Amino acid sequence: MTTFKSSNSGFSTRAIHFGYNPAENKGALVPPIYTSSTYSFPDVAYGSRCFAGEEAGYFYTRIANPTLALLEGRLASLEEGAGAVVFGSGMGAITATLWSMLEQGDEVLADMTLYGCTYAFLNHGLTRFGVTVHHVDMTDPANVAAAIGPKTRVVYFETPANPNMRLVDIAAVAAIAHAGGAKVVVDNTYCTPYLQQPLLLGADVSVHSMTKYLGGHGDLTAGAAIFSDIELALKVRLFGLKDMTGAVMSAQDAHLVMRGLKTLTLRMDRHCQSAQVVAEMLEQHGATAVVHFPGLPSCPQHELAKRQMRQFGGMVAFELKGGLDAGVRFMNALKLVTRAVSLGDAETLAQHPASMTHSTYTPEERAASGIPEGLVRLSIGLEDIKDVLADLHQALDHVAV
Ligand SMILES: Cc1ncc(COP(=O)(O)O)c(C=O)c1O
Repeated sequence: MTTFKSSNSGFSTRAIHFGYNPAENKGALVPPIYTSSTYSFPDVAYGSRCFAGEEAGYFYTRIANPTLALLEGRLASLEEGAGAVVFGSGMGAITATLWSMLEQGDEVLADMTLYGCTYAFLNHGLTRFGVTVHHVDMTDPANVAAAIGPKTRVVYFETPANPNMRLVDIAAVAAIAHAGGAKVVVDNTYCTPYLQQPLLLGADVSVHSMTKYLGGHGDLTAGAAIFSDIELALKVRLFGLKDMTGAVMSAQDAHLVMRGLKTLTLRMDRHCQSAQVVAEMLEQHGATAVVHFPGLPSCPQHELAKRQMRQFGGMVAFELKGGLDAGVRFMNALKLVTRAVSLGDAETLAQHPASMTHSTYTPEERAASGIPEGLVRLSIGLEDIKDVLADLHQALDHVAV
C-alpha cells in the first residue's frame, strides 16, 4: 500500500489514497475520524519532548490532529508542496498565513481585484497594526515591478480573480517578487490543485477556501495553505493557527473534504466542460456586452490561461448591456440557477456583485475594484447542461433590450 504514497502516482490516485494504509487501521477503507481534542502522554518525559518540539506526537488538536494531518499530507502531495496546514475557513488560512509572514512596518503589494473579505482584512485589518497595503493591476507584471519596494514582504493575488476572472501570470510575478526580496501568496481557490499548481510556477504559498470545489458539496467551511518552505508552514501552524487565529478545522469536516477529494478530478472535468459551453452561449447572446472566461479565444488572457492552467475552470463572469438594472432583473428571472454567494458546488450558483456582495460599495469604489454594474458571476454546477443553458437563456431573454 505504501506504493500509493509515491509521488509518482497520478493526481487522482493520490487524491484517493495518499498517506493512508487500511492495513494499519483494522482494514477500514475510510480513514477514522479522530474527534479527540486532547491526547494522553505515556509519561511526563514524552509530554515534555512533545512541547519542546523534539517528539512529533499529538498533544492538542488546535496544533495537530491525525485526521487533519492526513488531509494536510494529501493537499501537500496534490500541489507538490513541502507541507500544508488546514483551517476552519478560507479566511482562517489567509489571515493566519499573513499574520505569520508580516511585521509592523512591512508592506503588502496586492492585486486590485480581491475577494471582498481578503480586501477588508488587508485594508481594514492589517493596516491597523502598522502594515501598509498597496494595490496594483497585476494583469501586467510590469506594474508589480514598478510598485515593489524594499519594505514589500508579500505579493498577494488571486488567479483567476474573484469575481471578474482577471488572470495574473504567476511565474512572471513570482520572478519579480523574488528579485525584490518578497514572498508570493496566491489564492488558488478558483482552480484547485487539479487545474493550477502555483508552487511549481514559483509561488511560495498557495491558499484555498476548501468551502468551494475541494469540499465540493456546499456543506462545510474550511481552508488550507500549502507551502514550498516547511519552516514557514511550521511558523504558520505554531503562530498563525495556534496563537493568532485559533481557526482550527474540525475532524468531521476534514473527513468530508477527503470524501470530496476522491471525486475532485471528475467534478472539475465536468465543471470545466459545462462552463465552456455556457461561456460560448453567453458570448452569442445579444443581452451580454462581454464574457470573462479564460477558455474563450476572445479572452485577452487566453494564451496565459493555456500556459498556467490545466483547464479553464468552472467560473464564468459576464457583463449585461443594461448595467445594474439588467443585473437585478436577470437574477430575479432565474428559476433553476440559484441566487447565492459561494461557488464550487454541484448546484449552479449566480451572484450579481453590484446588488449583492459589493452593494455597500459606491459605483466609483466598484469601478476602482474592476467590478462593472452589470457584472454577473456564475459558478457552473454539475446539472445537465441543457437545463442550465435553458434557464440562463430565458433569464437573458428577459433582460434583452
Ligand atoms: C477566492 C476566495 N478566497 C477566499 C475565500 C474565503 O473563504 P471562506 O469563505 O472559506 O472563508 C473566498 C470565499 O468566497 C473566495 O471566493
